[in-house]
Amino acid sequence: MKFQRDGFVKLEGFLNAAVVETLLDRVEVEMRRDTVDTLKVDSHFNRAKYDFESDKTDVFELLEQPYFQEALTGLTERDLFLTFELCFEIEKNVSKGFPWHVGVQSFGFQFAEEFGCTLWAPLHPVDVDGQRGGMAYVPQHVVSGELVYQVELPIVSTLKAKEQAGIRTSVEEYFAMRNGILNSPAMLEILENHQIEDNFEPGDALLFNKMVLHKSIMLGEGDLPRRAAYVMRFVDAGSHYDLERAQNLEYPVKQYRSGFFAYKPLTRQHIEIAEAGAANGDVISNCAYFDNRDRRILRCRQSPPTG
Ligand SMILES: [Fe+2]
Repeated sequence: MKFQRDGFVKLEGFLNAAVVETLLDRVEVEMRRDTVDTLKVDSHFNRAKYDFESDKTDVFELLEQPYFQEALTGLTERDLFLTFELCFEIEKNVSKGFPWHVGVQSFGFQFAEEFGCTLWAPLHPVDVDGQRGGMAYVPQHVVSGELVYQVELPIVSTLKAKEQAGIRTSVEEYFAMRNGILNSPAMLEILENHQIEDNFEPGDALLFNKMVLHKSIMLGEGDLPRRAAYVMRFVDAGSHYDLERAQNLEYPVKQYRSGFFAYKPLTRQHIEIAEAGAANGDVISNCAYFDNRDRRILRCRQSPPTG
């Protein structure tokens, strides 16, 4: 199956017009709340929001739709748990989006080898031969992002070792190391040669697992001033909280918090789960941090009893 081989699949017409309308409203409310300044400063995104704060009733009703449950659990062959909703908006000719990456932040509280995936739904059209503004991704059987999850811990221990040796490090160095692995000249050439970019209409979505390397594509000249995308993150409902990985993500917060360019994290979700009582190894879908835990679960369809 394509999803198992490539790690991603485009789902055409996955969300109906009424759902797209609801998500557009939802995204607008969240982006007005408090957009992530650090992303704006670097022209990554026009507006973005990690961890939606709005009541999730509409989203839970969508998750409860049999077609939605069957599609996602059927493709991933497991029960899934919704962790976070996010959104990103890029502005024509301005926002660069993210370079090649995997979800080391959004999945940075889960054991690296466990399954997580993203449902990415652009809410405006993406025309590959026109204005573009979508995403590019590389099939995981060509290159997988596994190494990127692996080096998260040794990157921090390397920086700590330098500090202990009296060599001052910076937040720029931290991000240069994290981003540099996938965005080195050699990797850029390899990934660009194997990248796939699809057209999307509002209602289409991309399901991709957390190992799929992907990057934003700039929105070029054309009629559309901005392109927004709505994102849901899911983890395997039986997967576990990795406290060491979560604490590792806090390293730049602790190390580079002072000074004129103090590092401000995009989100604290990874460590808030521990602050709400989770211990290392706890099942994420049982963690008290998440409200309405039963409504966040997508269950594989039970086979009917035989006999
Ligand atoms: Fe991403």
